[in-house]
This record gives sequence, structure tokens and C-alpha cells, in this order.
Amino acid sequence: MTENFLPPQQRATWQALEAHAQRLTSLSLREAFASDPGRFRSLSRKHGDLLADFSKQRLDTAALEALLALAEQSELKRGICALFAAAQVNFTEGRPALHMALRGSCPPPAGAILDDGPVRRFAAALRAGEIRGTTGKPITRVINLGIGGSDLGPRMVFEALREPGPPVEVEFVANIDPRELDEALARAEPDSTLFVISSKSFSTAETLANACAARAWLAAALGEEKGLSAHFAAVSNATTAAAAFGVAQERVFALPEWVGGRYSVWSAIGLPLLVAIGEARFDALLAGARAMDEHFRDAPFADNLPVLMGLIGLWNTDFLGMETLAVLPYAHGLRNFAAWLQQLEMESNGKRALRDGSTSAVSTSPVVWGGVGTVGQHAFHQLFYQGTRHIPMDFIVPVGEDEPRQRALIDNAFAQSAALMNGRDLAGARAALEAKGLPAAEVDRLAPHLVSPGNQPSTTLLLPCLDAFHLGALLALYEHKVFVQGWIWGINSFDQYGVELGKEMARALAQGAGGAQDGSTAALLQAAEALRRTG
Ligand code: F6P
Repeated sequence: MTENFLPPQQRATWQALEAHAQRLTSLSLREAFASDPGRFRSLSRKHGDLLADFSKQRLDTAALEALLALAEQSELKRGICALFAAAQVNFTEGRPALHMALRGSCPPPAGAILDDGPVRRFAAALRAGEIRGTTGKPITRVINLGIGGSDLGPRMVFEALREPGPPVEVEFVANIDPRELDEALARAEPDSTLFVISSKSFSTAETLANACAARAWLAAALGEEKGLSAHFAAVSNATTAAAAFGVAQERVFALPEWVGGRYSVWSAIGLPLLVAIGEARFDALLAGARAMDEHFRDAPFADNLPVLMGLIGLWNTDFLGMETLAVLPYAHGLRNFAAWLQQLEMESNGKRALRDGSTSAVSTSPVVWGGVGTVGQHAFHQLFYQGTRHIPMDFIVPVGEDEPRQRALIDNAFAQSAALMNGRDLAGARAALEAKGLPAAEVDRLAPHLVSPGNQPSTTLLLPCLDAFHLGALLALYEHKVFVQGWIWGINSFDQYGVELGKEMARALAQGAGGAQDGSTAALLQAAEALRRTG
């Protein structure tokens, strides 16, 4: 993966793109639409029934051509082939990243056998009420204990696809803050609750602390005489550590080493999902992702949604200097989408070391943030309208049923992207105030405060509905977009050495290694200790 590596800014196409960016600095999207009636047609793409509208992005077809040339010159096709062929795209850890194999889009690495039969059978037995606790009562509540990729994916998909009246209640606990587990336990009965310890490494401090607290809660209620293993399962590839904790061997479901945490919702990490939504809908989720995998692998770049999204994101970040990406799903079911995407994008591409060990001279992952529409409209959208920053946005819009409030939701999504692009100039602000009959002096005083510069760039992803198939396709779309960007930037999207530093510091503090602290941290430790003593 490191052979013939050239940092992106040294490519001729990068320099050509800089010239396009200069040319387009004062592009007005409103004028671009006025002068080109075919703009939507030339800058939007369809794959199946998924529509991606890029026409509200600040580029033109010439800049898009140049971005596609950058993809060619970066040998992106070679990267995609390497990804699907189990090459060691995770070059620091020396392994492939083959989450696509979990959805049947490519074979697993040579010699690896994928068998999800055991986890599927266990989930089906839970749904059928066949799994019992130590007292013989059927398990009716599953609490997933996991964090990061062992929580965010399953939690987000669960919220998106859950239905009322499930056969088994499913909950998620991630935080080491005792409050989260305590709240879940307050709703639970010990004799009918099963904990899934979801941890690929089985060494994550938060998850293990919560697992120990869960075991203590069970022991206090049920006693330890009969053993508590009836109330635990684990998803981990550290099978020995899971067994040492007390999970029965046949209830430890492994996930392959070549599946990264943030790409693992498709694996046994999806156990709580299998319980909550059942196999058929889990399979539909995989099928949607598989359809997107095939599109990514086979479609020409000019029509390839993950490639285009990756390139346009790169354009905004590196050529237009935009530092964030706001993701705005117009679906209550996707209220945890931004949190999932934050890990996917920022843990994958929030990096600076390039393939050859040099430091990136260009910006990599944007700061990803966002929230669900229409709620965000009444909160942070103000900054989009009148703040001082340019903020690219992804509107995710599942059209859904023909129902009045659902229609209003979708109209709101379109109204936002249009208003943020069109804005309101001083003349428009004055006209709005005059229409209200305000005296001239008031119009003069207030008009500047109503000005909204507009020209905020956005992509709109339009899906027919938020079902398992389309959700699977959406997640895979973002996964591959992240790969495209990481490949062109020349970073490894599949390791996460950065977060290890914070973990090491937390371990050192827990072990009382206070001597090595800076003045601020030492003082904070002392102040917290004093509060504990007095509080
Ligand atoms: O701390 C980051 C991280 O390593 C993520 O990459 C991962 O998804 C998460 O922790 C949880 O890891 P595990 O599944 O091993 O507990």
C-alpha cells in the first residue's frame, strides 16, 4: 500500500483543482441555477431508487471533471480493487478491511470461514422466548454493554428500525457514568435480563466496568450459587477473556479481526439488532449494503455515489477551506446517525500520518456534526443562515408515507436547503419589512439583521423510505465515501492509534500515577478528591 506513494497536493490534478477553486470562489449558486436550467440534471445522480443531488454544491461540471481526474490519478480504482481483494489496506496493522465480506459482496480472506449460524440461532431463540435465566424465567430484556463501534452502529440501526411491541426489549449502555446503566437496570428484572458484552477486544475499560457492575447487580438479586452465565452472552474475538469473565463458551460470538469496530454492525456485533428486528430485516440491511458495495466496486466514477460524495467532500475541505460537515437526517429514526457518522468519519480519517510516514500537508477529515431535522431548525440552523462560516450539509431525506406531517417534514428539508442556498439580500430584507408595514426608520434599522448571505452548499440524499434495505445502502455509502477520501489523502482509514493515547492517560490516572501530571491536571485531581471528601 505504500509503494509509489505521492502526497495528494503533489499531483498535477490537485494543482488544477486549486485553479478551479480560484475560478469559483465567487460562484453564486443562485445565479448558477438561473443561468443553467440543466444544472440539476448534470449534477445529480441516481442509483436504483436513491437520488443524490449535488447541484447545490459550489462547483460546476468542469470542477467535477477535475475531481474525477484526481481520483484517476490517485489510482482510486486500484484502491477499490485492493479493498475488495483483501489486500492489507489497513497497512499499519497489516490486515485487510473486509466488512463487505459480511454482507456477501466479496469472499473472506483466504482460509477464513464465516459462520454466523450460532449468533443467528441464539438471537432467534431469544426472540422465541426459549432462552431462560437461572430461575427458569424466559429472558425478555437484552442490555447491550459496549462502546464506540460496539454500540453506535447497533444503537443507531435499532432506533431507525425498531417497532412497537418487540418480543424482547433491547437497550444499549455505553457510558462508564453509572447513571446510564443504573437507568437501564431500573427498568429491568434480574431473572429475565440478559447482558450482551460487546467488545471486540474484551479490554475496553468502560464496557468491562459496566459488565462487572451488571454481574454484581445480578448476584445481589439472584445469588451466585447457580452461576450467572445464563444471563450473559458476549460478542468478542477475545474468547478466552470472555470465558474468564464467566460467559459460557457457546455464547461467545466472534467477529473477525479484519472487521474494524466502526465497520462491525454487520457482524455478530449486530446481535442486539438480530434480537430486536429479526433475521429477515437484518438480511435486508445486509442486502442494501451489498447493493451499494456492488455499485461502488463496479460503477464508473462519474456515476459512482460513494466516489462522488468522497470527492465533493474533499473539494469542500481542501479547496474551499470548509472545516466541518453537518449531517441533517430528516427522520426521527436517524436521530443517532450523526453520532455514528462521527465515529465513522473522524475515527477513520481524523489523521495526519501518510502512507510513507510523512505528515499530511492538506486538511483531512472535517469535523462532522449535526442533528435531526426539523428539530435542528429551531436550534443550530441559525448559524447556517447568518453565522460567519461556510458549512457544507448533507440532507438525508427518506420520503416515506403520504401523510400530512410526513409531507411537512420533507417539505421542511427542501425548504431548508433552498433557503440556505438562496439566502436573502438587503433589498429582500427591506421588502419583507416593508410588507409588514413598518415605518421607514424601522426598516433601515432592522434590515441588516434580516440579511442571510445564502450560498451554503449542500447535498441531498433522497430515499423512498427508511426501511432496512435503504438504511443498509445508506450506511455502506458513507463507509465507502470514507474509504475514497482516506485513499486520496493517503492515510490509513482503518486504525485508530490516536484514541489509545487518551486511554493510556486514563489508565495512568486510575493507577494513581499523579506525579507525572502537568500543573493543571494535578490541581484538578486534587480538587476532585477534595470534593469527594466533602461531598
Ligand atoms: O476507543 C476506540 C475504540 O477502539 C473503537 O475503535 C472501538 O469501536 C471501541 O473502542 C470499542 O472497542 P471494543 O469493541 O474492543 O470494546
